[in-house]
Amino acid sequence: MPDLAVPWAGLRLATPIVVGASPLTDDLDSLKECEAAGAGAVVMHSLFEEQIIAEQMAAHRFIDSHVDMDAEARTFLPESSVFNLGAKPYLDRLRLLRERLKIPVIASLNGTSLGSWAHLASDLASAGAAAIELNLYDVATSFTMSGSQLEAGQLLLVSSVVRATRVPVIVKLSPFYSSLPAFVRELEKMGVRGIVVFNRFYQPNVDLEALDVSRDLPLSTSAELPLRLHACAILAGRTQLELGVTGGVHSGDDAARAILCGASITQVVSALLQNGPGHVRTIIAGLESRLEMLGYRSATEACGALSLQRAPDPHAWERLNYARMLQSWLPRRGSYMRLDERL
Ligand SMILES: Cc1cc2nc3c(=O)[nH]c(=O)nc-3n(C[C@H](O)[C@H](O)[C@H](O)COP(=O)(O)O)c2cc1C
Repeated sequence: MPDLAVPWAGLRLATPIVVGASPLTDDLDSLKECEAAGAGAVVMHSLFEEQIIAEQMAAHRFIDSHVDMDAEARTFLPESSVFNLGAKPYLDRLRLLRERLKIPVIASLNGTSLGSWAHLASDLASAGAAAIELNLYDVATSFTMSGSQLEAGQLLLVSSVVRATRVPVIVKLSPFYSSLPAFVRELEKMGVRGIVVFNRFYQPNVDLEALDVSRDLPLSTSAELPLRLHACAILAGRTQLELGVTGGVHSGDDAARAILCGASITQVVSALLQNGPGHVRTIIAGLESRLEMLGYRSATEACGALSLQRAPDPHAWERLNYARMLQSWLPRRGSYMRLDERL
């Protein structure tokens, strides 16, 4: 069977199947099952900037009862019924997971603005985090802040987290950069060790009955994977950063696709929430047999075999493929459009 051990941001994982950030953090038994099924590491759910700031503001109000937030400021802060305020419960959980699991536990910080909250990275390392995944979930809502200003702010934040801690920092990105390779190059200069592509964006729908926003969080399907494969194929071999995929990995073949496109690891959440922690074993078995079928002796040997690293002109390759796909489209049997109508 192929050797599945992989490097990940300065760590050595027994397999490339990582339990992604999710409510599974709160369920030690499930995590132990994931570990027994072969998971290479686990990422905790995020500690949010807003949780830390809310605690700091609450302390401030307590010290000076004359200082109170106005109603508008209050709406930016999480309700304590939804969020634990402060970092202590998170740090306690991290210590517990570290104690009970043998696989590396990666902590997740989630925020967008520069501030003292980012120094918590150092407390997370002291509590036993093997690495820190910094999630830059950021939705542009300002008409005056340009994309480059927004990215410059993100880079400042990343650099403050990297400087605050001695453990490797991994950045979880969104797909919406004008130039992902250029942004990744900046992360590389700052000492980031790996990136995870991509955040799934929370896309609230409109509930026409309630005339309100519906806050369902649909789980992913494998249809979300190609966006990530494409990004890995562009970046692999052309950056020092290791690449991880999150979003749409449901089977061993999905993991094999990501590895062939250049991912060192793949994170899995939806598939585990749907099928249970034992599904890690199914994914690993599928990955092993696919790599063996393709003649690879190890996951590292397969890594990046389908990347654009060897394409002499990746930009021309992208354009050509795009044009080819549009030009070669043919209606399937039963399609409503007749070929002669299309021409
Ligand atoms: C219920 C739920 C909670 C999640 N919580 C977090 C979180 O706290 N931090 C984070 O970075 N991602 C979080 N995610 C996103 C997942 O880590 C992952 O990136 C996403 O679900 C895509 O992977 P999948 O297709 O395997 O589900 C959450 C996802 C779900 C479904």
